[in-house]
Amino acid sequence: MQVRAELVPWDRAPPRLAQPDVAGIILSGGPAGVYEPGAPVLPAGALDHFVPVLGICYGMQLLVQALGGRVAGGRNREYGSATLTHRATSRLLQGVPARSQVWMSHGDRVMALPVDGSDIAFSQGCPHAAFAMEQERLYGLQFHPEVNHTAAGRRILQNFVVDICGCKANWTPAQVIQDSILHIRAVVPQHSQVICALSGGVDSCVAAALVHAAVGDRLVCIFVENGLLRHQEGVSVMQALRAWRPDLKVVAVDASEDFLTDLAGVTDPEDKRKRIGRRFIRVFEREMALLVADNEVEACFLVQGTIYPDVIESASGRDEQHAHTIKTHHNVGGLPADLRFQVLEPLRMLFKDEVRRIGRELGLPGHILQRHPFPGPGLAVRILGKVTWERLEALRAADHIFMSELVKNDLYNATDQAFAVLLPIQTVGVMGDGRTYQHAIGLRAVSTSDFMTAEWTRLPWDLVAEVSRRIVNEVPGINRVVYDVSSKPPATIEWE
Ligand code: XMP
Repeated sequence: MQVRAELVPWDRAPPRLAQPDVAGIILSGGPAGVYEPGAPVLPAGALDHFVPVLGICYGMQLLVQALGGRVAGGRNREYGSATLTHRATSRLLQGVPARSQVWMSHGDRVMALPVDGSDIAFSQGCPHAAFAMEQERLYGLQFHPEVNHTAAGRRILQNFVVDICGCKANWTPAQVIQDSILHIRAVVPQHSQVICALSGGVDSCVAAALVHAAVGDRLVCIFVENGLLRHQEGVSVMQALRAWRPDLKVVAVDASEDFLTDLAGVTDPEDKRKRIGRRFIRVFEREMALLVADNEVEACFLVQGTIYPDVIESASGRDEQHAHTIKTHHNVGGLPADLRFQVLEPLRMLFKDEVRRIGRELGLPGHILQRHPFPGPGLAVRILGKVTWERLEALRAADHIFMSELVKNDLYNATDQAFAVLLPIQTVGVMGDGRTYQHAIGLRAVSTSDFMTAEWTRLPWDLVAEVSRRIVNEVPGINRVVYDVSSKPPATIEWE
């Protein structure tokens, strides 16, 4: 909505809430129950400054509890899609159809509202699905307006942010770029060496362009061939980067043997991610040492294209009490404790759609902007179980067939992320007149805007059939292809 928002942990919020530029507060959901010992509490001062407050799910329950209502464990968990029906008019639900689909995900529920609270909507499993204290500008929603599955979620948030809080849409890409450049200049001293982990994806390209605008030639980008990339990826990324920014210094490093040695025999997904994260850092340390060998430098920096969902889903260690770890995104959770340089993450507070808008403003070519995301640990998290060169080759070939067919049929942009997964289970097939006992390939395509929630993409079956036919015919060792029809949640986008 082009309104600046900050995410502040509940136990560090009070000083920030007291500042006069706070126009409104949203209390998020969370995995705890309000009566559990040690559960997050309403930040002190949240109700003292007379700014509007919107509590979502756990946030609503906190608000209700603080205002004298009652919350208790529900007998039935309510999880998934529900129909929301209006009970009374409210500024919060203005313009929302009288009945609409919302996404519920809660065990506890509100049993009694605060005395001054009015019920404004209900669902079949939730009598108090939304409440308002219009005069005090306090609101609560048991469902999640922030996920795509809530049809009018954006409208509800817009009502709160723009109408109720009175915020202006002035946090534009140009403003973010300007702030970011000033911030980078302020933290990077004059005599420092900066390297950027550049994968060729939209995030790392935007991060590199921002840092380059701030520090110029002190930036050297490192592209790592780790053996876990897709068909011909190294060559095409280097070509695209040279064409886009001939002035950007980019060094390609082949460390595939090191990565594959680290992964030998490893099957646990979290272990894979951490090993890959550590190896990336060792490669960057080696390259940094080469760059600074002959120069006096005050400080060394590593730029990463980490975006906000990576940070949220990797919440670990000190943040574990605030959010559960879903998976350790390698560039966040995999950093070793003895890191020898400072990390610069200019996109750390941004979501993918925001990064794309900034990229567009920075003149990134369309084919980089619209590239499907590719995870840092690469094909290692798309081969379930052990990663071997043979399996990598099979997956690369299958994935290439899938991508080529999407492009050929003009469907690459009909999905937000598509890829193949190698399932090293063995299944029985018949080819020619003979029995086969080989591996399967999973095809995954998702539709999403923020990658926090996603729906599986309904690709045309004719396309899926052709991809399947080609994979089984052209990729040795594969006799079966399956199409993944799970949403996120409850699944995640990657299989590991
Ligand atoms: P999941 O599987 O968590 O994926 O639903 C959400 C998005 O993040 C990408 N992803 C990663 N990106 N390092 C990255 O840079 C990682 O370790 C990583 N794991 C997942 C995934 O491809 C999807 O776009």
